[in-house]
Amino acid sequence: MSAAPATKPRAAVSKASKAKAKSLGYKSFTAGNFKFERDEYFAHIYYPGGRHIIPVDAYLRSLMRDVGWGFFYGTVNFDNVFGTINHYGTVEMFIGLLNEAYKSTGRHYVETFDAKKLKKTFEDMLGDWTNAGFDPYAAPNETGKAFGPKKGSNLKAIQRQRMVARRMVGLPGDLPMRSDKNGMKVNPQFKDVPQDKPEIHAEKGFEKEVHAFNMFAYTSRSDVTWNPSVVSNVKDSQFCATTEEHMLPIGHGNDRVEWFIQVCDEIIWDIDDGQTGRPLAKVVMKAGDVAAMPSNIRHKGYSPKRSILIVWENNDGSLPDRHASGELKPYPVEF
Ligand code: PHB
Ligand code: FE
Repeated sequence: MSAAPATKPRAAVSKASKAKAKSLGYKSFTAGNFKFERDEYFAHIYYPGGRHIIPVDAYLRSLMRDVGWGFFYGTVNFDNVFGTINHYGTVEMFIGLLNEAYKSTGRHYVETFDAKKLKKTFEDMLGDWTNAGFDPYAAPNETGKAFGPKKGSNLKAIQRQRMVARRMVGLPGDLPMRSDKNGMKVNPQFKDVPQDKPEIHAEKGFEKEVHAFNMFAYTSRSDVTWNPSVVSNVKDSQFCATTEEHMLPIGHGNDRVEWFIQVCDEIIWDIDDGQTGRPLAKVVMKAGDVAAMPSNIRHKGYSPKRSILIVWENNDGSLPDRHASGELKPYPVEF
């Protein structure tokens, strides 16, 4: 989909709001007909036909995921109005496209961007708007505040690379195991997670092929939340372990089925319709529970205590079209 009807006026940013952002030390950003500003508490999004507002801490947490994951699979909803849809090369940025009320009254607005260019704009915005001491990947209890006038930056936190194993964590030449020695300590909420190692008895000649590691221990040492790291990769099967505390900043609308395995503790999921945002279900996942998230919903998780989750993604690039055309059902099994 391209830009909305030309009859809609360009985004109108008031002079006062522009001056306010500038006096606080923050840059303003433009992408097509979208304009972005931040003040002490909020991100403001102006678009032809209207304006939108998001608390800046929530906005930066969502922006961090969108940038860090290269627009992820399918839709990244920052809230129930604003978000991006990944078309793997291009990206749609939208207001209200997946919101029943905006859509049915024609108040939605969408523009398509080259993914690399929009990513660069988002990276610059994230860099400029993230103050020293605020880490958008950290649990709220483990970071400073996002608010106030511009105060330094936190490039170290926002330029963290997502950890992606080529074959498997700990294999020669692959991602190293996490340890106290390389500064990756067990999170205080995971003091109960055993740190022992599996015994590996490989046949002679297979020492570099046969491998195992304690994934509980590995994941308990993650300093980020809601940021899956790929711990094994077999063809299109990606096992992504992550530690969760507080809430997933985005509502994820996948363009394929994905699976969740709750490794310890508990996450409560809000499941809403992918197109309209209508609430559909609450899913409470306790340790050992496995769930398949259909391709036609969006999900947002809440983890009252830090917990470990495995997100199992299917990296097969043919899936989005096959789901969109109806060739594949939105769910993976029938009982
Ligand atoms: C998801 O959208 O499925 C998702 C993203 C990040 C997480 C967990 C789940 O940490
Ligand atoms: Fe998801």
